[in-house]
Amino acid sequence: MLRHLFGILVGIDLILTVTCQSRSFFDMNCPQNKAANFRKCEVFVDSRLDFIDFKQWTSELETAVTVSLDVTCSSKGVFFLPWPMKARGLIKLNVKGCVLEGFFQDSLTPTNLKDELQELSLENCVIAVNMKRVIDLFNTPLTQEIDCGQQTVQRSVWHNISYMFTNKMDDIAIDEYLRKFSFDQFFNRLRHIKYRCNYSNLKYIDDSISRSRGKNRFLLMTAYSDFPKLNTFRWTDNGYRSVPQELIDWRKYFPQLKLLDLSYNNISKFNFLGAPSTEMVSKSDPLVVDLSQNSVAEIPVDMPDYLTGSVPIIVDLTGNPLRCDCNFLRYKKYVMNALKRFEKYENLSEITCYSAIMHRKIQLVNYRNNNC
Ligand SMILES: *[C@@H]1O[C@H](CO)[C@@H](O)[C@H](O)[C@H]1NC(C)=O
Ligand SMILES: *[C@@H]1O[C@H](CO)[C@@H](O)[C@H](O)[C@H]1NC(C)=O
Ligand SMILES: *[C@@H]1O[C@H](CO)[C@@H](O)[C@H](O)[C@H]1NC(C)=O
Ligand SMILES: *[C@@H]1O[C@H](CO)[C@@H](O)[C@H](O)[C@H]1NC(C)=O
Repeated sequence: MLRHLFGILVGIDLILTVTCQSRSFFDMNCPQNKAANFRKCEVFVDSRLDFIDFKQWTSELETAVTVSLDVTCSSKGVFFLPWPMKARGLIKLNVKGCVLEGFFQDSLTPTNLKDELQELSLENCVIAVNMKRVIDLFNTPLTQEIDCGQQTVQRSVWHNISYMFTNKMDDIAIDEYLRKFSFDQFFNRLRHIKYRCNYSNLKYIDDSISRSRGKNRFLLMTAYSDFPKLNTFRWTDNGYRSVPQELIDWRKYFPQLKLLDLSYNNISKFNFLGAPSTEMVSKSDPLVVDLSQNSVAEIPVDMPDYLTGSVPIIVDLTGNPLRCDCNFLRYKKYVMNALKRFEKYENLSEITCYSAIMHRKIQLVNYRNNNC
């Protein structure tokens, strides 16, 4: 969860003018729920909030109490939030519109807290990153706690997250730094790690609208981690032009996947028939791959196979630049076969192709071609 977000860690030279939030601040913002053992905190941050203060507050609560924390920032709001965001009793953390500082602290000492977080949602946030610090950090061994984050998580949302570099070095120095960094060396070291991150509860990931397009991201994500229950993976609007190999091989890495949302990318070709499943069971529920609003113009010749494997695959090509030709006829045949089994995707029959001869769009259900 962390290594695959290589490029996230935060700098040393952050302003640490901490305005300490007192216990009464959280007592006030975290009213006791009717269910006595649950506190729901809603905090609006116009200046600065420090997770360390919150952590101090939860540590003084009775041990049976669980807590959720919703933080919304104004345009000036900064949330000092050190990974892996552990606080005793914290089971849900939602953060919106904040600049996140201290994401990676200098000292990576174990917290001695157990994993408890079930829901993590970061939306429209900017993570302040010191690139030099990131590289130093990845050249030192990480503990499993830091590396994997909280393995209890069920829902992980990193939606519209961008990075802001806080380096004081000039750009040339950063370049030099990056040149010294070898991904191969880094990856080789990973092979010697003695643990795997086991996200055995994780059902939902949303990593949409991410401006960092690291090409090794999926490799790092899957190389030493297991996602045995993941059923929804949203990866929209990330500017990808091709399907990463690990998603082609989804059966191997994400065996329970039901929805793969790749809409609003720039993918021109696809293949989801990669590595076979490691499980032998066949399933009646299909995998739905949402490829709407991409750049697909070509239909793979093995399209019929998408319905014959152990898990049938529904590929939604709404809003792609499809031309009316034999390619499209192949897609039509596939869709009509798919609809015989899965009526609920009926509106796939409304997908259109563009006919250059007729200067108009034709709906799939109406398309005929006797020349293929
Ligand atoms: C993404 O987040 C930034 C703030 O970091 C915000 O200004 C922007 O409007 C957000 N974009 C979308 C599409 O929500
Ligand atoms: C992952 O964790 C689950 C539940 O804690 C456990 O049943 C499973 O054996 C673990 N898998 C691996 C590969 O360690
Ligand atoms: C999408 O890809 C095409 C080429 O495949 C390229 O010309 C175009 O600029 C890309 N669009 C975006 C938004 O990246
Ligand atoms: C089918 O329905 C979904 C949601 O109901 C919509 O997003 C999609 O655009 C529709 N597809 C077509 C071809 O109308």
